[in-house]
Amino acid sequence: MDKLIIKGPNKLKGEVRISSSKNACLPILAASLLFPQDIRFKNLPGLSDIEFFIKILESMGASSQADGESLIISTANLHNVHADYELVRKMRASVLVLGPLLSRFKEAKVSLPGGCAIGSRPVDIHLKGMELLGAKIEISKGYIIAHTDGLKGCKIPLDFPSVGATENLMMAAVWAEGETTIENAAREPEIVDLANFLRQFGCEIKGDGSSRIKIKGRDFKDYEVTSQNSYQIIGDRIEAATYIIAALMTNSQIKVLNFDPEHLASVIEILKKMGAKIETIPQGVEVLPSGKLKGAKVDTAPFPGFPTDVQAQLMALMGVADGLSYIRENIFENRFMHVPELVRMGMDIELDGSSAIVVGEEHISGAPVMCTDLRASAALILAALVAKGETEISRIYHLDRGYEKLAEKFKLLGAQIERVKE
Ligand code: EPZ
Repeated sequence: MDKLIIKGPNKLKGEVRISSSKNACLPILAASLLFPQDIRFKNLPGLSDIEFFIKILESMGASSQADGESLIISTANLHNVHADYELVRKMRASVLVLGPLLSRFKEAKVSLPGGCAIGSRPVDIHLKGMELLGAKIEISKGYIIAHTDGLKGCKIPLDFPSVGATENLMMAAVWAEGETTIENAAREPEIVDLANFLRQFGCEIKGDGSSRIKIKGRDFKDYEVTSQNSYQIIGDRIEAATYIIAALMTNSQIKVLNFDPEHLASVIEILKKMGAKIETIPQGVEVLPSGKLKGAKVDTAPFPGFPTDVQAQLMALMGVADGLSYIRENIFENRFMHVPELVRMGMDIELDGSSAIVVGEEHISGAPVMCTDLRASAALILAALVAKGETEISRIYHLDRGYEKLAEKFKLLGAQIERVKE
């Protein structure tokens, strides 16, 4: 296993290009199951979650072939509709194959995703929606076994604007008979990117990005292969937020490119309230030296609220800001695992249920720390960049799930960072 060694404090300069969004790629790769043809994905990010998802598609008979910067995937000749426990247990997003398989093949056998470090993360909202569409769902020996004589479009009110459930049900609706309306739908940019992808392959979808999405179902028999088959996925707003916060914590000036700042409106608004100088430029933002930032009070919420995926990174920034800050995590039940590690580096953070109280510290110091989940790991990197002395970060396979070439990108920005074998 590898580890990262970071010597601090650091100053960053230059520019960083953000990779394609992990959380847009995964549902769009799942959506390739809907269309029996070659699909050319441009610039997929080199992330373990993406490689893994492609393995799941291949385990069903999909083909994949690299062609320069693109990857061509075809699900024209699938030989099974079974997503195995051995594969699914490692990544919750695998459950996203359920909707497309059920819609196109009228059956699916998908392992129940285990919980994960940040919470139990059930799929009850996904399954309730599938049943409303006319699927028979049985849970047996840890598997979701679903089948239907044919899905029928209907109104699906979601109990919670679940991102995954919205995506799964959008895909299920594609080959359902008649119109489906998803109410209280998630509004994340990744939902809009999935809708754009589905539209490119002939689907009629309205309202994506709002809390009411309408999908006009079609008959799979009428599907026509299209030559307009290449797709470029949006930039990763969570990766972008991580680099923006890195610049603010090190009082640096950098450009963060290849993402849409609109996708981070709530994050940029909070950062500016804390005193950050962030300017929108073509293709992204420029962060200007902003000195010591002020504390803030933040609640995580579904889009367009403050994203839970930036909570850990913001907490690291609050840990070296001026004065008191509060963060309340409203989406996941256990997303504070970065806190003990940040405290070991000298940050003053107290937990109270789903809230954290942070007292900004003048200085923090390097220490050996351990990654526990993807975004907690990012918070440790950020703290290490400003800490005095050396920080050794272990179990960085968590980082590789969602940050492409992180050490190289930070090195190019001037950070003293090395990736070494443990
Ligand atoms: C997506 O997860 C993202 N993952 C997560 O990013 C992100 O944190 C999350 O949305 C919220 O924005 C991908 O897109 C691959 P949810 P997802 O369904 O779809 C509960 C990262 O770091 N819930 O919106 O799993 C659930 O337990 C990852 O990149 C149910 O109770 O999130 C959670 O508490 C982490 N029943 C809340 O809703 C359900 O059927 C939000 O879950 C579904 C969800």
